[in-house]
Amino acid sequence: MPLPPRVSIVGASGALGQGLARRWAAASIPLALGSREADRAQATADELSAAVAGADLESGENAAVAGAAPVVAVAVPFAAQAQTYASIAEALAPGTVVLDATVPLATAVGGKPTRTLGVWQGSAAQQAASLVPDGVSVVSALHTVSAALLADPEHRFDEDVLVCGDDKESKATVAALVEAIEGLRAVDAGPLDQSRIAESLTALMIGINIRNKTHAGIRITGL
Ligand SMILES: NC(=O)c1ccc[n+]([C@@H]2O[C@H](COP(=O)([O-])OP(=O)(O)OC[C@H]3O[C@@H](n4cnc5c(N)ncnc54)[C@H](OP(=O)(O)O)[C@@H]3O)[C@@H](O)[C@H]2O)c1
Repeated sequence: MPLPPRVSIVGASGALGQGLARRWAAASIPLALGSREADRAQATADELSAAVAGADLESGENAAVAGAAPVVAVAVPFAAQAQTYASIAEALAPGTVVLDATVPLATAVGGKPTRTLGVWQGSAAQQAASLVPDGVSVVSALHTVSAALLADPEHRFDEDVLVCGDDKESKATVAALVEAIEGLRAVDAGPLDQSRIAESLTALMIGINIRNKTHAGIRITGL
């Protein structure tokens, strides 16, 4: 599957957004970086330009970048997920693939990062799917990949990424973007409703990582 001509990141100023931007820019993927504040998006782009020579970057408010690319990665906390989709939904053109990495951690309501919340639709990804216009495909992925390691250009990954979605072609597009990051392997984990399990693995991994003081990922063996 060829890489898309540009990828937008909603929430690009955050930990995951910046980490993904760093890796995708290093892989020569043109990006549009979004924030609630255009100035913050521009500051993120300036920082990334200094770190990755020749990066092809646009920046703007979330809604502006959501309409600027065929693939839109959404990297915001669960507590902000619904309002973020409300702010970008109109801008999403039919055919857009949304890569959603949201994990409904209990921290959204003051709870522990080792617990997840129940989501009415079944998972954060399914909540996202309920908030986008018809013709927009939601794929979930990257839940267990550490933002800190994405931001560290010296770190070479050796882990798998579970990819959930209801449209095969959209999943292949997201898999190609995942695998543009060296050392990450995309594993098709089935339809979007399996995201409930993929998302909950993050809470498990956070506990393992706290106990081992590391940023371990997951590996599916025998494939
Ligand atoms: N961190 C990780 O290692 C990691 C790994 C895998 C998946 N995830 C998931 O990815 C998502 C983003 O994680 P993160 O660690 O990058 O989060 P974060 O740094 O806390 O926030 C990301 C961005 O979301 C926007 N945002 C924050 N609070 C908001 C609010 N109340 N309303 C609207 N926008 C808000 C902010 O952008 P602006 O202020 O610029 O708008 C912020 O920079 C989460 O759902 C997380 O579970 C994280």
